[in-house]
Amino acid sequence: MDQTREIILQLLGAIGSRKEVEQYLRQFSSVGQQRFAVIKVGGALLRDNLDELASSLTFLHRVGLTPIVVHGAGPQLNEALAEEGIETRRVNGMRVTDEETLVVVRKVMQRINLELVDKLEALGTRARPVTSGVFEAELMDSDTYGLVGEVKQIHLETLRTCVRGGYLPILTCLGETAGGQIVNINADIAARELALSIEPHKIVFLTGTGGLLDEKGRIISSINLSEDYDHLMAQEWVNAGMRVKLQQIKELLDQLPLSSSVSMSNAADLPRELFTHRGAGTFVQRGERVEELLNFTGVDRDKMRGLLEECFGKTLVPDYFDSKQVERIFLTESYRATAVITKEVDMPYLDKFAVTPKAQGEGLGASIWARMREAFPQLFWRSRADNPINTWYFQQADGAIRGEDWTVFWYGFEETDRIEQCVVHARSLKASLVAPE
Ligand code: ARG
Repeated sequence: MDQTREIILQLLGAIGSRKEVEQYLRQFSSVGQQRFAVIKVGGALLRDNLDELASSLTFLHRVGLTPIVVHGAGPQLNEALAEEGIETRRVNGMRVTDEETLVVVRKVMQRINLELVDKLEALGTRARPVTSGVFEAELMDSDTYGLVGEVKQIHLETLRTCVRGGYLPILTCLGETAGGQIVNINADIAARELALSIEPHKIVFLTGTGGLLDEKGRIISSINLSEDYDHLMAQEWVNAGMRVKLQQIKELLDQLPLSSSVSMSNAADLPRELFTHRGAGTFVQRGERVEELLNFTGVDRDKMRGLLEECFGKTLVPDYFDSKQVERIFLTESYRATAVITKEVDMPYLDKFAVTPKAQGEGLGASIWARMREAFPQLFWRSRADNPINTWYFQQADGAIRGEDWTVFWYGFEETDRIEQCVVHARSLKASLVAPE
């Protein structure tokens, strides 16, 4: 326990607030040992980032979590096969596996599996290689793919025993048919099948890139499928590979509890991804829908007040809900993110934008913002000069004018007179959130 605390403290120093870390630790521990996470590790990452991987897994183990790890061996196999003079052929993303190839596959899988297990053990982290007995498979289409298996059943006994004993199970993606023939299984598919069977809280894909990338090559922080999926799939810059990944993730999450989520991360950033609101990679959840309302009639005012007061750390004036000329309210189902649009000087004005830190990490703020932008091509708003969100506002706005108390932002119009009118007006508005007494 002392050791655990020490590790937590170390981590805290490196990644953020203790409160946040403890909150996620509680959440992850509460789902039951076996249902915390399935982590899929690509072969390339095992080759290039074995140390980072082992220390991230060690961290999880020290805080009492036992993820189930399944790995591939793509690049290592290519190399070993090339050495043996065996040609690598892929059909539909599957490695065509004849008997000769399978011999190499088995050897390489065993070897790199043990490399990870040894690394973990060297760090004092108990781990067990699991190279058979989990994936029961049938040949997918032996004429096309050879000895490639399609998962028919998952046997969890071995994994349960490992986890109960406090060992991290490290799985290769080899299966066997009912008749005992060993077969090769695509590692992504193996991870998905495993997730469907275990229904874990988290499914993690570890890769060198550390997440899905946007058109500028930056990591997309979060995807709230119920709002963002169609929009993303319609983007030109989303290439075929990413399209397939998104589809597969959606299909997977659609079959899991709403609370389950997928995270993509690199090896070193895994603790930050798991134990902070902001994360470090790409977080995907089925998520919530954004509702649009025309006034406060259908809104639970207590919950709305709670959200605004929590986000701003201030008290909402008692007559707030009756004092505004409301144009539109955007609100997520859970009352964790909202945007209230009113009308001021005949222009849509963003009167409140509030998103809890956790909902920010889940991408709900971005979902609301996207909806709002679509509905309101012109908008202005103000923000306290010291509000940390301003950096983000500057990115969203076409322009901004800083003032002593308030910075005023706008997008969608550029007439100087109009801007001036809006800025002057925004500054003159009475504050509806006041410091608690
Ligand atoms: N730590 C939380 C989780 O793993 C939230 C992660 C958010 N990550 C992100 N890239 N936005 O469930």
